[in-house]
Amino acid sequence: MAGRQTEAPDSSAVRTALWRAMHVQVDPPPHVLEDEIGLQLAAPDDDWRRRPDMDPRGTSTFRAAIVARARFIEDLIVEQVDHGVTQYVVLGAGLDTFAQRRPEIAARLRVFEIDQPVTQAWKRQRLIELGHGIPDWLRLVPVDFEAGGDWWGQLSAAGFDPGRPAVVVCTGVTMYLTKDATAATVRRLAGLAPGSTLAMTFMLPTELVDEVDRPALEATKPQAQAAGTPFISFYSPQEMLALASDAGFKDARHVSGAALAERYFAGRTDGLRPSSGEDVLVATT
Ligand SMILES: C[S@@+](CC[C@H](N)C(=O)[O-])C[C@H]1O[C@@H](n2cnc3c(N)ncnc32)[C@H](O)[C@@H]1O
Repeated sequence: MAGRQTEAPDSSAVRTALWRAMHVQVDPPPHVLEDEIGLQLAAPDDDWRRRPDMDPRGTSTFRAAIVARARFIEDLIVEQVDHGVTQYVVLGAGLDTFAQRRPEIAARLRVFEIDQPVTQAWKRQRLIELGHGIPDWLRLVPVDFEAGGDWWGQLSAAGFDPGRPAVVVCTGVTMYLTKDATAATVRRLAGLAPGSTLAMTFMLPTELVDEVDRPALEATKPQAQAAGTPFISFYSPQEMLALASDAGFKDARHVSGAALAERYFAGRTDGLRPSSGEDVLVATT
């Protein structure tokens, strides 16, 4: 793994980046998302595709779910930019590469990436080493949501204008946070300027996951624990919708994994389909 000068990035962020690259490398076209820059940032050992969590067949449903959610977010951002939104905040950005892959859109925005300080310092270094650099419109804001610090103040100090609408995205993070930390974050985001949108993914409790997907999902839980990134929070769609409306969001809707599957995987001939188990909250102010 490159970037050894700074400590290693969050392992779950690397895994999702590698899954996005696997999709391009092992699944036939059409690709739901083309993202190999995360792989370049991670620069894993040559045998990375033989990692058990990269097994092309055994983990295909997770790989598909990761590209489905990333594509959903990307489509949302493009739509929001078309509506005139100029601020994009990525909570728990990990190895998100929208800024590097879609600079023609990203440069029309101010993009704020929030992540844990170690992971973000590592990413900053890798972006510079690979020649992407950090353009002026991309702001990296180091925050630990569990530390109880003033992340909102940090965001403003980095140039975020709370008086203007924003799109705020948080994929693959709430399962790693306490419910208190997520609720505090959602409450804070409900104070975004009118016309703002929050898209946040959440893991479903086992009983709400499609039966066919349960064994594989259950198998990932001890692996996540062993990697030091245990899944600690699960939400029903109703609980997430209530969290958003209690926090003060004007509208909140639930986008199921099945809806993403239908939107991005219908008609494929290779049988690739996303696992159920992670849904999306889309809430607006
Ligand atoms: C599974 S990765 C998802 C990354 C990216 N959003 C994606 O969809 O590929 C989870 C991310 O949440 C971040 N994260 C976990 N706990 C956090 C915390 N307490 N504060 C800030 N970020 C956190 C991790 O560093 C990691 O980048």
